[in-house]
Amino acid sequence: MLARVWSASLVGIDAVKVGVEVDVSGGLPGIVVVGLPDAAVQESKERVKAALKNAGYAFPMRRIVINLTPADLRKEGPIFDLPISVGILAASEQVNAELLGDYLFLGEVSLDGSLRPVAGVLPIAAAAQRLGITGLVVPAANAQEAAVVQGISVYGCKHLAEVADLLNNPERYVPVKLDGLKELATAQFAGHDLKDVKGQAHARRALEIAAAGGHNLIFVGPPGSGKTMLARRLPGILPPLSFQEALEVTQIHSVAGLLKNRGSLVSDRPFRSPHHSASGPSLVGGGSFPRPGEISLAHRGILFLDELTEFKRDVLEFLRQPLEDGYVTISRTRQSVSFPAQFTLVASTNPCPCGYFGDSIQACTCSPRHREQYWAKLSGPLMDRIDLQVAVNRLKPEEITRQPTGEESGPVRDRVKAARERTRDRFKEDPTVGCNAEMQSQHLRRWCQLEDASRNLLEGAIRKLGLSARATDRILKVARTIADLAGDENLQTHHVAEAIQYRTIDRMQ
Ligand SMILES: Nc1ncnc2c1ncn2[C@@H]1O[C@H](COP(=O)(O)OP(=O)(O)OP(=O)(O)O)[C@@H](O)[C@H]1O
Ligand SMILES: [Mg+2]
Repeated sequence: MLARVWSASLVGIDAVKVGVEVDVSGGLPGIVVVGLPDAAVQESKERVKAALKNAGYAFPMRRIVINLTPADLRKEGPIFDLPISVGILAASEQVNAELLGDYLFLGEVSLDGSLRPVAGVLPIAAAAQRLGITGLVVPAANAQEAAVVQGISVYGCKHLAEVADLLNNPERYVPVKLDGLKELATAQFAGHDLKDVKGQAHARRALEIAAAGGHNLIFVGPPGSGKTMLARRLPGILPPLSFQEALEVTQIHSVAGLLKNRGSLVSDRPFRSPHHSASGPSLVGGGSFPRPGEISLAHRGILFLDELTEFKRDVLEFLRQPLEDGYVTISRTRQSVSFPAQFTLVASTNPCPCGYFGDSIQACTCSPRHREQYWAKLSGPLMDRIDLQVAVNRLKPEEITRQPTGEESGPVRDRVKAARERTRDRFKEDPTVGCNAEMQSQHLRRWCQLEDASRNLLEGAIRKLGLSARATDRILKVARTIADLAGDENLQTHHVAEAIQYRTIDRMQ
């Protein structure tokens, strides 16, 4: 007998429908899987066989052929355990197959028949809803994640026997309910607070501007001045994710398998801090079935590269294109997929190998040549893309010994939120711009018009610092954010002046 069960396969952060056809017929007992399965799908045969037996079902001692369609798409992972099991049960008439076509199944099956969570359930649920499938059967641990998608009934099952019962007695089961928006609204940020930071008013201001406009930022300063400490406080002043943004972030984290056994929507903006030994593929994504890398996991949030000069230069070069485009494309012989990578880059570094160049107390022991080599690691094109280059100097003795007096994160976050709302109002018609850093040239022409005094100032800076056209555009975007923080519709000369003075490294060189 023949049964057909629906399942799905991931392609990047999207999914396509996969048909699992199971034929049980006479012949020598055995089981074959065809249709470009990978090793994990091949192993599924053994798992399913044991699971069916241990769950109390008969495993047909006949010839079983399993065909995964479309045949030209590579199928990956243990996601097909459940649809294959259901297919065998239906083809051997152990469950009611009448409603089989209404559901899409996915999940890994343990040897005892219990269902284990799999990666990528949210994008699959979204694709299933688009394709007009009415029901989705997933492992219970994935149910909340899938239920984020409205307009499709999600059933979370703990065991194979529960899935069989759902097919036999559908009236006994109610779909999982979840209100994703409510989840987001109740999410509370629990992290480090700016009130712990002593002094460093200049760096705190830069942090606020970076949060308000999504601008890339680097802290340069001697050891122990608070660079890492400051950067780790950025998530606490970022505006909350919108529902659409949370959906995007959750899809990426779902595909990367980072949501297992957890709730539904990712509610905090991501903060990723890969170690400096990170490889290119772990940073930008890769693998034979492409998986998102750190830059995509940081989508709509922060990618923090601490000790930037310790990263391998060729690894940093990979960042150039995504920083410009907001996405990364990974090409493989069989498929090419794009992952979103709209992130804010935050980095920290010492100013030289010994760490004390420009320090007020300790003398730098590096030769000029050494310093040059050190900076050469950070290519010009990368630094060109960092809008806020901020010197973080050592604290004064009286700052160190006293209690911190700076503002808490709460009011800073409120100002950031207000500035972003101003930006959003301005780009109501153009939802591609979520923050000022995402403005394109046509937006700059319209919203960053300069008075004569500002223009003269900027031209002087271009001449003196040797700024590129890109660096100049980036200065205008920062100036726009500074004006938004001040609630000013027009760009004033002092906004532009403040934006220019954040090109510290350009000045140093
Ligand atoms: N501005 C500051 N306010 C309060 N504490 C500080 C400050 N700067 C440094 N500290 C203290 O020193 C510790 C080390 O600071 P941090 O790691 O941020 O330094 P860093 O600038 O990143 O140094 P390195 O260049 O060695 O990485 C902090 O955890 C904190 O306890
Ligand atoms: Mg540090």
